[in-house]
Amino acid sequence: MLSGIRVDSLTGNLMSNNPELSPETLVAQGMHYVDPSTGAIVPPIQASTTFARDDNYALLNSAHSYGRDGNPGYRIAEEMLMRMEGATDALLFSSGMAAAMAVVQALEPGDHIVAPKIMYWGLRNWLRHFADNWGLGLDLFDPGDPDDLAKAVIKGTTKLVWLETPCNPTWDVVDIAHAASVADDVGALLAVDSTVATPVLTRPIEDGADIVMHSATKYLNGHADVVAGALACANDDEFWQRIRRVRAEGGAIPGSFEAWLLQRGMRTLYLRVRQASSAALRIAEHFEHHKSLAAVLYPGLASHPGHAIATRQMHGGYGGMLSLRVRGGEKTALAVMQKLRVFIRATSLGGVESLAEHRYSIEGPDSPIPKDLIRLSIGIENVDDLISDLEQALI
Ligand SMILES: Cc1ncc(COP(=O)(O)O)c(C=O)c1O
Repeated sequence: MLSGIRVDSLTGNLMSNNPELSPETLVAQGMHYVDPSTGAIVPPIQASTTFARDDNYALLNSAHSYGRDGNPGYRIAEEMLMRMEGATDALLFSSGMAAAMAVVQALEPGDHIVAPKIMYWGLRNWLRHFADNWGLGLDLFDPGDPDDLAKAVIKGTTKLVWLETPCNPTWDVVDIAHAASVADDVGALLAVDSTVATPVLTRPIEDGADIVMHSATKYLNGHADVVAGALACANDDEFWQRIRRVRAEGGAIPGSFEAWLLQRGMRTLYLRVRQASSAALRIAEHFEHHKSLAAVLYPGLASHPGHAIATRQMHGGYGGMLSLRVRGGEKTALAVMQKLRVFIRATSLGGVESLAEHRYSIEGPDSPIPKDLIRLSIGIENVDDLISDLEQALI
């Protein structure tokens, strides 16, 4: 429990546990944080790396002993994520990669993983190397083919099905409920990288996922000033305890200031994601038939292969990410990038500022990403300014 959480004077209930309050309300209020000793409504930055014991050498607070295991300053962001995801527990990590790695490191040699061919390339590359070195089996499935996942799993041997949806940067949408039943049939856990969808639009645990992963560097924080990751679980079971140990023993934890910035950024998540989603839809619709483009990839468009699943699985929007395939190939795509004046040319996504990226240049010659593809992360600016910028760059 958070030390600053207020008890409702009328009902005696903890405000943060009040089932009548929506996650939207609790997240905006930082879980209704009020410091009982000062009345402050903003939590302090908890910098302590060690926690005191009493005369009898018992910890003053049994939850905290040493900073590598965790820090009370993480709990607000973790509880916010738990409420948003409908999760039993959540853990912050030093990065999205560290969060994903903790899930894989909790497996045992001989276990088999199934992951999509198109996904965050850093994780896909790491999985390939790590699987070999640690004696894990790995097979990649085509996220655009609804039957391919079932072909890739092995009953009794596949222990982890990894999904990313919508997946980077084609925004293919994978049916989480279907993947959960495939994973369940073979005795595997289902983990979903929900960085792009965010809990505002998709709640994978409700669809049957066991673990939800976020690069909190992206939408959760939302201001391009924190590198962090997070996991949330459906069940606080033995596998989750192994993940906890991986974090505590390896120390892949965020700094105190980063955790504090993250809880602050998360307070506006619902507003930011809704604004970015509606702007992205407008941009996608505006440019869908543009003469300079071969395709606009966005799950909110009826022409996108993932549209039907996205409409079922994503609630209140299709996200702030889209990609443009430029007629004329790589050279023309790079020329368009050069002309952008409002979009900032930079990697990453999910911030308040709109970013444009030529993914192939970032990923290099092994990349399956088309060379004509420009990835756009839509921020919260005036959408007409973004449309005008793309119009002038595409001519
Ligand atoms: C979808 C997705 N998952 C995971 C990651 C890795 O997260 P981080 O950069 O916070 O380690 C990224 C980073 O770009 C991402 O886009």
